[in-house]
Amino acid sequence: MKAILTAITSLTVAVFLVQPATASDMPDGAKIFSQKCKMCHAIDKKKVGPAVQAMNADAEVLRTTITDGRKRMPKFGKKLSTEQIDALVEFIQTQKL
Ligand code: HEC
Repeated sequence: MKAILTAITSLTVAVFLVQPATASDMPDGAKIFSQKCKMCHAIDKKKVGPAVQAMNADAEVLRTTITDGRKRMPKFGKKLSTEQIDALVEFIQTQKL
């Protein structure tokens, strides 16, 4: 009985491990934003940088600006992973009115 239980448990663990990345594994754009961007960007008003709602809607422009920076906007290409930057782009786009 114990052996069967152990087998079932390890099988469950194995199935869990081979599962493809799910939505919950995606980096959380809102969280990264509040950790790295909030000091300069507010959602609905201008701070050091433009309000998130007023930002460019084009994913490519957003990605390039976050990766390479622009004027006083620091570059995050080396500080954040591609997945994290994608999550931020998605977060910014969902804030648009
Ligand atoms: C040190 C302050 C500062 C921080 C931190 C900062 N930004 Fe910026 N950001 C700016 C400034 C200033 C601009 C305006 C640049 C310009 O004049 O072209 C800007 C511009 C942008 C733009 C371009 C908006 C547009 O309409 O094209 C995006 C997108 C952006 N920031 C996203 C982010 C994200 C995402 C983060 C966090 C990872 C972040 N910023 C962190 C200061 C900052």
